[in-house]
Amino acid sequence: MPASNLAPPVLTAEDVLANLGALRGRQPVKFSAFYSSQLGGIVTDPALMVIPFDDHMVHRGHGIFDTAGVVNGKIYDLEAHLDRFLGSAERSKLKLFGSRETMRDIIIGTTAASGQRDGSIRYWLSSGPGSLELSPAAGAEPGFFVMIFGGLSYPERWYSQGLRVMTTTYPIKPPLYAITKATNYLPNVLMQMEAKEAGLDNGVFIDESGFVGESSNMNVAFVTQDDVLRHPKFRQVLPGCTSLRLLELAKPLVGRILRGVEVCDIPVAEARAAREMMLLGSSVKVAPVVEWDGKPIGDGKPGPVTRALLEVLEEDMRTSDRLIDVPYVA
Ligand SMILES: Cc1ncc(COP(=O)(O)O)c(C=O)c1O
Repeated sequence: MPASNLAPPVLTAEDVLANLGALRGRQPVKFSAFYSSQLGGIVTDPALMVIPFDDHMVHRGHGIFDTAGVVNGKIYDLEAHLDRFLGSAERSKLKLFGSRETMRDIIIGTTAASGQRDGSIRYWLSSGPGSLELSPAAGAEPGFFVMIFGGLSYPERWYSQGLRVMTTTYPIKPPLYAITKATNYLPNVLMQMEAKEAGLDNGVFIDESGFVGESSNMNVAFVTQDDVLRHPKFRQVLPGCTSLRLLELAKPLVGRILRGVEVCDIPVAEARAAREMMLLGSSVKVAPVVEWDGKPIGDGKPGPVTRALLEVLEEDMRTSDRLIDVPYVA
């Protein structure tokens, strides 16, 4: 057979740079800075925000990540996100890139270089490049990457009118994988796509015992008919930094709009009978769920506890002692 003249071209380094630029031109992205241990520094041109294909995070999912927020030029609750990052690294048998302090300094330095004063910082640890095998390649150096971007955004309607969710048909991750923030989000992706295809806002995982799990990239919590804030145990759901913080911040509300705060197994039937249901996470913050599987939660309107929790969280993000100043240049 004669060779097809549609065979792909063999490219020079200049061609590759030009093509990466063209790709970003066709689909602009709003990433303001990217650090890569493999590049050896920070780039601000999105065309240069790349990773070698043979990195095992790319083709085997052997990597972990975490996301912290930037609020008014300060990084919020980074230590909690770093604690979880280190836990995920250990469970994933990933070598660290330097010390916790080194990674923290790189995160702060990349944020400073981005100039971004509101948005998100997502950072990854990979087992590194070197082969297409499963176990890390001989001599592989761990990769550390930091991306600064505008953050995920959700419709204003979620907060003013509330979300509509469905129980996903996809199985929940087993505990080890659920509590580890690895780059294996296939169940989460499929759950969210399934909900969107059904005209809904998101899905909810239920565990094998019939207890409520979590949503795609958010935790779930409820307010019972007798005003107790209930959150699922962190056994088979990600220990959300937002949830953990809110469980503390909610305590002063006990005796005012709450009677108690509990972390416990929540059977689906009890959850459906809740007065309020909410989604919690660094990007969504606190958002009311008003309908689940076609049935209203409570009176089908956003409730007062959800609203109060959003207020205390936003206050904490502005004023708490968990803020790190970013040394922006200008
Ligand atoms: C699966 C999953 N659950 C819950 C959360 C909420 O965690 P956090 O509050 O730390 O954003 C996230 C987001 O990171 C997530 O990906």
